[in-house]
Order: sequence, then C-alpha cells, then structure tokens
Amino acid sequence: MTVADRQIHLSFSVHLTGSHPAGWLHPTTEDGSDVSIRSYRHLANLAEHGLFDLFFIADTPALRIDSLDVWSRYPLFTNVLEPLTCLAALAGSTERIGLGGTATTSFNEPYNVARQFASLDHISDGRAAWNVVTSANNYAARNFGHAALPPHAERYSRAQEFVRLVLKLWDTWEDDAFVYDRQEVRFYDPAKLHPIHHEGKHFRLDGGLNIQRTPQGRPVIIQAGASDAGKELAAETADLVFGSGTNLEKARAYYADLKSRMARYGRSAEELKVLAGVSVTVGESEQEAIDKVETLKALLHPAVATQRLGMDLETDLSDLPYDAPIPEDRIPKSANLHTAYFAEIVRMIREEKLTLRQVAQRYSRGSAGIRGTPKQVCDQLEEWFHGGAADGFMFSLPIQPAGLEDVVRLVVPELQRRGLFRKEYKGATLRDHLGLARPPGPGRRALAAE
Ligand SMILES: Cc1cc2nc3c(=O)[nH]c(=O)nc-3n(C[C@H](O)[C@H](O)[C@H](O)COP(=O)(O)O)c2cc1C
Repeated sequence: MTVADRQIHLSFSVHLTGSHPAGWLHPTTEDGSDVSIRSYRHLANLAEHGLFDLFFIADTPALRIDSLDVWSRYPLFTNVLEPLTCLAALAGSTERIGLGGTATTSFNEPYNVARQFASLDHISDGRAAWNVVTSANNYAARNFGHAALPPHAERYSRAQEFVRLVLKLWDTWEDDAFVYDRQEVRFYDPAKLHPIHHEGKHFRLDGGLNIQRTPQGRPVIIQAGASDAGKELAAETADLVFGSGTNLEKARAYYADLKSRMARYGRSAEELKVLAGVSVTVGESEQEAIDKVETLKALLHPAVATQRLGMDLETDLSDLPYDAPIPEDRIPKSANLHTAYFAEIVRMIREEKLTLRQVAQRYSRGSAGIRGTPKQVCDQLEEWFHGGAADGFMFSLPIQPAGLEDVVRLVVPELQRRGLFRKEYKGATLRDHLGLARPPGPGRRALAAE
C-alpha cells in the first residue's frame, strides 16, 4: 500500500445515554434505551451502514453506592448491558462491522476471557475484539473482594501475564486440528494440540482452550492505557490502541512513542493501528455545531460536573466554589487511576487558571473535542491522520443515536469524497478492515517430544 492509498479507520464508542454526562437529559435521548438490545442494534446497524471498522462497548464492572445525591444524576455505567452478552446478540444482526468490548484483567481469569472472546470470534465469523484494561476505579475492586485497586504497577504486572496467557490459550490448536475423520475414528489430530503448562507470578494453568482456533486466528486485541506501563503492554501485544492525546502535538508524541516501542518486541509499526479518541459534534453550519455543544454545557448539573472532575483528579472538590479557580494545592501528588485524564485536568488548572465550572465544562476524558461543519471536522481529522498522530479515530459522540446519525450522514460522505475512507467493506473480518494480517498458528508438534 502506498502512502496515498492509506485510509482512515473508524471506531464508534457506544453509550446509549451519550458520551456527555448530560447526554441523557437531551430531548432526543430515549428513556430506557440503556438496556434495550433494540437500541444497541439500531446503533450497530447505523455504524455498519457508515462502514465503520468497529463498534465498541466500554465497561466497568461496578456500581457506585456512595454520594447517591450526585451519582443518581449521572449515568456512568449505572444501567448497561454486559458487553460480551450484548455483542453476541449483535453478531446476529450485523454482518461486517467489528464488535469490540472491554474485559478487565484485574478481576477476571485468563481462561474465561480467552474462551468468551474466542466464542465471539466464531459467532461473528471473525469480528471480535477484546479491549484489555486494568480497571481504574475502586468501586470495581470492592465487588471482587478488595478494599481498593492494587497499585498501578501491580495491575500492569498481572495484565502482562494475563494477556500473554490468553494469547497462548488462543493458540491451543493449529488451524486444521479438527479432522472429523470417521474412517480412523479421530475427532482431532493430537499432534495439532498444544497443551499449556503455565506457572507464573499471578496465574497457574495446566490445560488448553476447548474451542478451535478462531476465524481471525485470534481476536483483535485493543488497549487504551496511556501510562508507560500501558504503552509497553500495547507495544508488545495490541493490534489496536485508542489514543488519548487531547491536541495534535500530544497525539503525535503518543503515536511516535508507542510505535517506537514495538521494535523491542520484534514487531513493525504497521502491526498496530492507533485510533485517536475524538469527541465529535457536527452541524450543517458552524453555529449549529456550537449550539449543540452549548446546549449540553447548560444541561450539565454542577454537582455532577464537580464529582466527575474530582473522580479523575482523585480528590474531593465538592467544597469548592463553582465559579472560582481550583487552588493548585488541591492537586494530589500522583495518580493511581487514569493517568492521562489526571494529567489533562492538572494542565488546565496549572496553565489556564480556569474556574471549576470552566474546567468541568471543557474536560473531555482524554478525547480531543472537534466541532463544526462536515468540512471543518474532516479538515481536523485529515490533519491528524496525515500529521503522524493517528491511523484513524475512535468517535465518542455526546448524544446518541442523533450524534451517530449526523456523523454517518455528514462526516462519512465527506471523508469518502476526499478518498480518505472506504466506500464499501472489502474483507470479511475485523483484521481485514484494519489491514492486519491473520496471525500464523502454532507449528505442528512432534508428539514423541512431549
Ligand atoms: C477510548 C478509550 C476507551 C476506554 N475504555 C475503557 C473501559 O471500557 N474500561 C476501563 O476500565 N477503562 C477504559 N479506558 C481507560 C484505559 O484503558 C486505562 O485502563 C486507563 O487509562 C488506565 O491505564 P493507564 O494508567 O495506563 O492510562 C479507556 C480509555 C480510552 C481512551
């Protein structure tokens, strides 16, 4: 592929109440859509109609049970379908779009995750993707017998062993291991089974996966960690990364840094695609887009805005006045949860001296905010794409489904007109859409050697 042929990859992050904390209050958001498979299906079909590479469901296995006066105003993973179950249902009502979901390495076992995503890859004929996260809130930890999350380094140590083990499990079988030989009465060829004997710091496993190698060879691995440890794990194992640079310069630095780490693991830069996280608001006119952004700002409840900011700054800000600058001495020394989100807030407080209200309204949890006409939006996407900051984009949309309808109707055709986006799906699997090779399976085993 020449540089001129290179095209943008698009993923869509599903939030039935919109990615904006006040999205659920918008008049176009339907009450009850959060747990309606019909609503998910509508969005998946719409994204597929827009030829997106990937439909993605983020997740945290937690419910917040404190500060109910605030949390009851903000649907942050409070009423959602479990991703794998939902994606399996969507596999039956979509044909080409990739289906990705989050599963945490901190509160699962490798065997379960390997099995579930291998099943999804079979169910969807090669469209499954696993977003590897280490979890970034203590609410999740408390559902699994811990008082708080283990420290960051410990979580990533477990994550690394976890992912390596899942990769081994997905290579339990060679591609043609199941022979169904009635004549010889052989269901599978034992020389093509690769049992796993693993004893590590975090896991012990003696066995193998009871499901054959998947249509994609193995499901696509996604990561979105922005810390050093997160980038290192991605450089070693990820096929796709959601970047969290909030401006061109940061996104470019992230992109170059991540890809430069891959050689250490014998990988070339093309083996991993970086999708920059962008929050997109498009209008027929610039004013219409601005009005849409302002409408949501006005709907944002001050208590919710303050809580959301405090959550990611890892400190309580509820005693501060809404219209005064946040004092610098309220910034904790370091972050243990979302390091990139933390850094984004600290920068706004230190460099821009903004009031609590202003920080809260601007803060976008790691996504660059892009708003304007289709031309203005595509100009920015193109600048990032050609400017060494992204291989594509992860769209979070403040309101849904209306935001996705706008993107498919206005942004996708403009990208296509510029030759930057596909006009039809060419391949069948998510790896095909992303231009990623199917990983070769394990080599044939000499039975005598075992
Ligand atoms: C687009 C995007 C999607 C993410 N989805 C999830 C998610 O579903 N669940 C989760 O716990 N973290 C999610 N994260 C957070 C990160 O994956 C990561 O766990 C977090 O940033 C902490 O790791 P770090 O310290 O390496 O940055 C997401 C981040 C981005 C940018």
